[in-house]
Amino acid sequence: MKFFIDTAEIKEIREAAAMGLVDGVTTNPSLVAKSGRKFKDVLLEICDIVKGPVSAEVTSVKHDDIMKEARDLAQLRPNIVVKIPLIPEGLKAVRTCTDEGIKTNVTLCFTANQALLAAKAGASYISPFVGRLDDISTDGMQVVSEILEIYENYNFDTEVLVASVRGPEHVKAAARMGAHVATCPFSVLMQLSKHPLTDSGLKKFLEDWEKVPK
Ligand code: E4P
Repeated sequence: MKFFIDTAEIKEIREAAAMGLVDGVTTNPSLVAKSGRKFKDVLLEICDIVKGPVSAEVTSVKHDDIMKEARDLAQLRPNIVVKIPLIPEGLKAVRTCTDEGIKTNVTLCFTANQALLAAKAGASYISPFVGRLDDISTDGMQVVSEILEIYENYNFDTEVLVASVRGPEHVKAAARMGAHVATCPFSVLMQLSKHPLTDSGLKKFLEDWEKVPK
């Protein structure tokens, strides 16, 4: 499974990349706003660090406007993937992007049927938001499982990018199901390596090492 990092913070990207945990990056307008920086400045800096796919989201909702943004973003760097919302105008834009060879990540997906439409439009990635589904008492990972089953049935090339990841359990479930990618906040990537027995075990080893004659 590929790990993407879900952030627009350069420090977090560098730190996670040093651990080999950044196969790609996803951003969204909220994450960019949180960084306090200009969108294109952040995007270009991320692309200087990460050679894998970097998702950059459009903020238009009409086909022609989305396409204007998509073409503009796609020509910035070869690894930019244009993130487009799962609305009818968005799906039309995904189709046009597919025809023009622009890679897309279809975002704000909450059902398997929505994912089916994205795959039909030729999306490179589909992003089911599992945490937001869990928040409304719907099993987000169940939706991922349904999407994987449908994509497998019809051999779609669209990769399932598990998004809105809230903790290690989402990551483990995604990996067990065979999802192609999980995009995680930096905090979740850090939690994955943590175990209290690792910490207490290491503490004891280091204490005992002090007793070894040197
Ligand atoms: C995915 O591409 C989105 O940027 C992100 O995962 C949304 O996560 P949230 O629900 O924690 O905002």
